[in-house]
Order: sequence, then C-alpha cells, then structure tokens
Amino acid sequence: MDQRVERIYKAADHIKALISGKTPLAGIVLGSGLGKLADRIEDPVTIPYSDIPGFPVSTAIGHKGNFIFGKLGGKEVIAMQGRFHYYEGYPMELVTIGVRVMKCLGARYLFVSNAAGACNPEYKVGDLIIIRDHINMMPNPLVGPNMDEFGPRFPDMTCAYDIKLQALAESLCPECGIPVKKGVYFGSTGPTYETPAEIRFYHAVGADLVGMSTVPEVIVARHCGMKVFGMSVVTNLANFLNVEKNLNDGDDVVKQADLASEKMTELMSRMIATLD
Ligand code: HPA
Repeated sequence: MDQRVERIYKAADHIKALISGKTPLAGIVLGSGLGKLADRIEDPVTIPYSDIPGFPVSTAIGHKGNFIFGKLGGKEVIAMQGRFHYYEGYPMELVTIGVRVMKCLGARYLFVSNAAGACNPEYKVGDLIIIRDHINMMPNPLVGPNMDEFGPRFPDMTCAYDIKLQALAESLCPECGIPVKKGVYFGSTGPTYETPAEIRFYHAVGADLVGMSTVPEVIVARHCGMKVFGMSVVTNLANFLNVEKNLNDGDDVVKQADLASEKMTELMSRMIATLD
C-alpha cells in the first residue's frame, strides 16, 4: 500500500480504538488562539498528537497538539487543537494529515478557522469573516501520485466553501452577535508577514484576508468530498504603508483571536446542531 495512505490509516485506527469506533459528523480545525472551542466539547476524549503513531507535533505559537472528540451542538465532532503549517517545515502530506484522518473516522464536514490579516480596508481587528473563496499561493498538497483511495486526480474547486453552510452561517450570525462579512482568503507560505507592496497586490487581485494556513486543508477536504466551512478572525490590519507603527507581532495575533473565539464557538456549535 502507498506509505502515505498507510500512515493515515494507522493514525485513524489509533483514534478509532480510543473513541470506541464512534463516528464524528464534523471535523474542526482550530487556528491560532482559537483552541478555546475545544473547552465547549462535552464528554471530551483528548488524544495527544504525540501518542499517535506517525503523527507530527505542532510547534506554532498558540497551538496545542491534541485531537478532542466529543459533543458540540449535540452532535459528535472531532477537533484538532493545533494544526501544522507549511512554514514549520512539514511537507504538505503532513500539513494535511489530520483532515484525511478525520475523513477516515467518518467526518462529512470540515470546519476550519484561522487568524488572518485584513487586506480589505473595511475590516476591523476582531472581525469574524466567513470565507467564501481562496487564492492558493502555497504549493498544492495534491501534487504527487494521486491518493485514489481519497479522491480524483483533478478535483473541482468551484464551490470549495460550501454554499449552503455559508448561508446557514449568515442566518445564525445575528443571534451570535456577529455582523455578517464574507471574504476571500489569500494563502501564503509565510513565515514572513507581507510587505506593503504585497498587500496592495493581494488586495488588487481580490483578496480580503491573508494568512499562512487553511488552504492546504481545504484542498485536501474537497479532494475527499468533505463539505467545508471556513472562518477567519481578523487579528491585524495588513500594512498598506511602510510605517513603523504598523509592525506585526505574533503575540498580538494570538490575543485578538482569543477574544473572538467565544463568538465563533457559539456560531459553529449552532451550525453543527442543525446538521445531519
Ligand atoms: N499575514 C499573514 N498571516 C497572518 C497575518 C498577517 O497579517 N495575521 C495573522 N496571520
């Protein structure tokens, strides 16, 4: 068997044994500072990445390294508290391994969250933005021999972010105290933040948000037929001008994400409650 596939199956088997073969309806990937959602999961089973054979360990700030299985919105879910970034040096196969493992456990939906910089000048720090599309400027995680067990060689990406899930989020945002805003996420490798010229360029080509994650996971989720919902927390306004007061700071990113995570948790749990 393809060694990449074998590694995924082994990790899934390890988790299956610990959750008594139960099937999560949705997988959730928690971004920088957004790990708090995991505290709302009822009857949690915590599975450290370090216990899973062949699984990488997250090194990014604001990221713990656990799968948490349990109930959210009355439905069974499995969350990744901490993700893997390309800038940490992992190959794309490992950046995205968690998504394929969640698919093997039976998850039909993927909820992804991230901290992002705003290149839409109308956004404010702390805004929660429904991701409606992305621009991929990272290496594509599907390059290489196709994993036929998971999906086709040339997956469609016209509706990468599920239209019905976006509409569901829009209908639930008001009761969660979230003004409805939707945007396009630009995925860059990092780890540098952007120069002002790059931000002007990304904005000119249609991006509203910029970040260093999410896109590989969404591509892999779509490849294996999962329905995706994505949400960004605006942790900083990306810099249009070369002035020193605009310097970016990783700790600030985590702090702002933490403040918004309660509302995002409320929205995602209400969304999941309506799914079947
Ligand atoms: N750029 C890229 N990634 C980010 C940013 C940013 O400004 N903020 C949070 N993640």
